[in-house]
Amino acid sequence: MKDEQSHRVPTSDDIEVSTYLGIAKELHGEQSAPELKPLPPEERETIVVIDFGSQYSMLIARRIRECHVYCELVPWDTPWEKIAPLNPRGFVLSGGPASVYNPGAPVALSYIYDKHLPVMGICYGMQVITQQLGGQISPGEKREYGHAMLYLNTEDCPLFAGLPPSFSVWMSHGDQILNLPKNFKTLAYTDNTPVAAMGSDDGVFGLQFHPEVIHTPMGKTIFQNFVYKVCGCQGNWTPANFITESIEKIKNQVGDGKVICALSGGVDSAVTATLINRAIGNNLTCIFINNGLLRRQEPERVLNTFLRNLKMNVTYVDASERFLERLKGVTDPEVKRHMIGEEFIKVFEEEAAKLGKVNFLAQGTLYPDVIESSSASETKASATIKSHHNVGGLPAKMKLSLIEPLRYLFKDEVREVGMALGLPEDMIWRQPFPGPGLAIRIIGEVTKEKLETLRAADWIVMNEVKKAKLYRQLWQSFAVLTGIKSVGVTGDYRSYGYTIAIRAINSDDAMTAEWTRLPYDLLARISDRIVNEVPDVNRVVYDITSKPPATIEWE
Ligand code: XMP
Repeated sequence: MKDEQSHRVPTSDDIEVSTYLGIAKELHGEQSAPELKPLPPEERETIVVIDFGSQYSMLIARRIRECHVYCELVPWDTPWEKIAPLNPRGFVLSGGPASVYNPGAPVALSYIYDKHLPVMGICYGMQVITQQLGGQISPGEKREYGHAMLYLNTEDCPLFAGLPPSFSVWMSHGDQILNLPKNFKTLAYTDNTPVAAMGSDDGVFGLQFHPEVIHTPMGKTIFQNFVYKVCGCQGNWTPANFITESIEKIKNQVGDGKVICALSGGVDSAVTATLINRAIGNNLTCIFINNGLLRRQEPERVLNTFLRNLKMNVTYVDASERFLERLKGVTDPEVKRHMIGEEFIKVFEEEAAKLGKVNFLAQGTLYPDVIESSSASETKASATIKSHHNVGGLPAKMKLSLIEPLRYLFKDEVREVGMALGLPEDMIWRQPFPGPGLAIRIIGEVTKEKLETLRAADWIVMNEVKKAKLYRQLWQSFAVLTGIKSVGVTGDYRSYGYTIAIRAINSDDAMTAEWTRLPYDLLARISDRIVNEVPDVNRVVYDITSKPPATIEWE
């Protein structure tokens, strides 16, 4: 698994293997995770991105984080009192849909200039700087959108250090700079844009193009130059630092209080729980509910990891029968979903009530959820409990404060943190699995027998996809028990069996998805194994529909 040279095929069994290895290491006094040291406060550094509403704002934050510099995206009207504790080393002003001449158009608040920290304005951000510092903007004669060749007319600007004299950039703007503000110089131009980059001696820059998008291939260097050469950051934001800081914060937030956390088996809840456990030990109780709709060996694997390897305080509830009872006779997908969600909350509340006084509920909310739920107000976002959460339910009635240690992380950062915490790779790289589980992959009524059939088929899909080393590349790959039975022939006998559908898709965010062109040989192996190894299945089909119009799950 970790050894790239190994000929061992990574399968879902590896989670147990890593668990046993972890236990063995502990028995020999070895730590399964690296030793972590906190960063001294004076070395903490943040680049603050002032959000003027561009669709690319979150990408700016991503690019800066990729430089190992901590970065937060804040609404443009955030007061200095909220910014100061972040120990800012520089500002990036994002693009935005407005024109600086629109009445009420957002502006940069005075601290952006008064603090004499470096500033990089992108597109609308550049126009804001120009207008506020006394330059002039004109509506572009034609809207410029797409690739353009940028020509530098400076050789010694730190922002462009190491870059060639001309390179391709991505433009998307209407307005452009007519007159520079005082003390600014033009640093670059394109055929349509005389001032495509500008800068002052005080470290205030403006870029008319978008360095954050992949269509500006040199954009990464520009961000590196800005954070290291212009702002003087060290690039010391690492998973290890994040972990130590989070542990400190959680200790302060929770004190002697009690926390509960629902485990789903996915990476977000696993990392959340592990971080909190590191901070407060057994004052965290994890509740792992087996709803009977999990995949083969999933409950065992989750328990092995958390109970045996990480020695966490986990309450395991096998509620399979309860869920199956509720699902009896239910065929409507939405009713299924609803019932599963409701039952989950009931079980969770019952278990939480047994624990006595609990003060906090831990959730694995991530940064994109925070930004999406409220780009205008952080406080509004923190009051929102995510409804489409992987564990499937939200105990809204429970009067608990939320604790969300991952709320400033992107998914890949969560994975890095998970690795640094020593979580098993199979858990860290698990493909998304829906809260309602296999119930929404069985068309029609859910029964024990159908669940067993689907589990067996799903196991083969997962196994073969992993053997083909495609598991991590795919967003999701799984089997569906279609409601269809069809005629087949086995030996001399006519059969009448289930049809299994295979679904494999690529996606960036699950909002859209493309069906994956899995190799025919792989599909053939999967199909052969399913019809041979899974009783009652005599036909396998491949779902060749993208999203839209189909959804990823069949229900
Ligand atoms: P759809 O089927 O809507 O799925 O294209 C998009 C993504 O969301 C997952 N999914 C769910 N996750 N609870 C969840 O936690 C749900 O009810 C649910 N429904 C779909 C799905 O697996 C895919 O990744």
